[in-house]
Amino acid sequence: MEAEELRAEQLERWARAAAGWARRAERLRETSLPVSRWMVQRLELEPGQRVLELAAGPGDTGFLAARSIVPGTLISSDASEAMLELARSRAREQGVENVEFAALQLEWIDLPAASVDAVLCRWGLMLVVDPGAAASEMRRVLRPNGRLAVAVWDVAERNPWATIPGRALVELGHADPPDPSRPGMFALAPEQRLRELLERAGFLDVALDGIELDRAYRTAEDYVAETVDLSAVFAEVWERLDERARAEVRERIDALTAPYANAGGSLRLPGRSLVAAASA
Ligand SMILES: C[S@@+](CC[C@H](N)C(=O)[O-])C[C@H]1O[C@@H](n2cnc3c(N)ncnc32)[C@H](O)[C@@H]1O
Repeated sequence: MEAEELRAEQLERWARAAAGWARRAERLRETSLPVSRWMVQRLELEPGQRVLELAAGPGDTGFLAARSIVPGTLISSDASEAMLELARSRAREQGVENVEFAALQLEWIDLPAASVDAVLCRWGLMLVVDPGAAASEMRRVLRPNGRLAVAVWDVAERNPWATIPGRALVELGHADPPDPSRPGMFALAPEQRLRELLERAGFLDVALDGIELDRAYRTAEDYVAETVDLSAVFAEVWERLDERARAEVRERIDALTAPYANAGGSLRLPGRSLVAAASA
C-alpha cells in the first residue's frame, strides 16, 4: 500500500475511534497516569514556556504539563479533527485554559523551527509511516536544549492486553496476522530501536525507561467492550460478525486471558510502555 493511502486509512480509523475514546477517556487518563507523570517530569518545565503535544488524542498528558507552565501555553495537537474535538471538550471539563488546539501531522509539523520549549508525544510516534521524519521534525521545532518526552509500546510479548483480541480474530480466521513491516503499536520496540531513532534525529542525552501498565477489567465482557471502543481495527471485524461468531471470539479471548484471570472472573492483563526523554 502506498504511504499516502496508508496515512489516509489510519486517519479515517482514528476518526471512527474518537467516539469510543471519548467514552473511555477518563479511565485511560487514570490508568496511563504513571507514563504521563514520567514524561512531564522529564520536560523540566518552567512557568511561561511553550509546550507542544503531538498526537494528543484526548489530550490529558499535555493538560498535566499545562499546569506547570502558566502563564505559558500548551499547543495540543492531533492529525484527526475528531480527536481534537475530544481534546477541546476535555480541556473545558478540566478547566485548562492556557491551551491552543492545532491540527498537526507528526511527519511534517507545521510550526516554525525552534518555536517550542518542549515536545510531548505519548503513543503516537510508532504509528506513523516514517518515524524518522517525525523525530527530525520534533527536533526542528524545539529550541536548542529544548526537551522531548515520548512513549511507545514495548514489544508485543509484554503487552498481552493489546494483542489478545487481535490474536483471537486471527486464530479464528477473521483477520490476517499483523504485518510487521507496517507502522503499528510495536514498531519502535525494543528499547534500542527507539534510542537509535532519537539519536539519529540528533537528540542528545537520551534517557530510556520502561513502565509496567497492567490493565484491570471487571469481566472478560468488559475487556471486549473496551477493545471495540478503542481499536477501530478490532471494531471493523467485530461489527461484521454474527452472534455465533462473536460468541466464538469471546470464548477464544476467555481461553487466551485465562492465565491472567482471578477467581471472581476479573482480569489483570500485563502491559509495558517504553518512555524516553532527550534534549534537542
Ligand atoms: C494511540 S492514540 C494516543 C493518544 C494520546 N496521545 C494518548 O496517549 O492517549 C494515537 C493518536 O495519534 C493520532 N495520530 C495518528 N497518526 C498521526 C499522525 N500522523 N500525526 C498526528 N497524529 C496522529 C491519532 O489521531 C490518535 O489521536
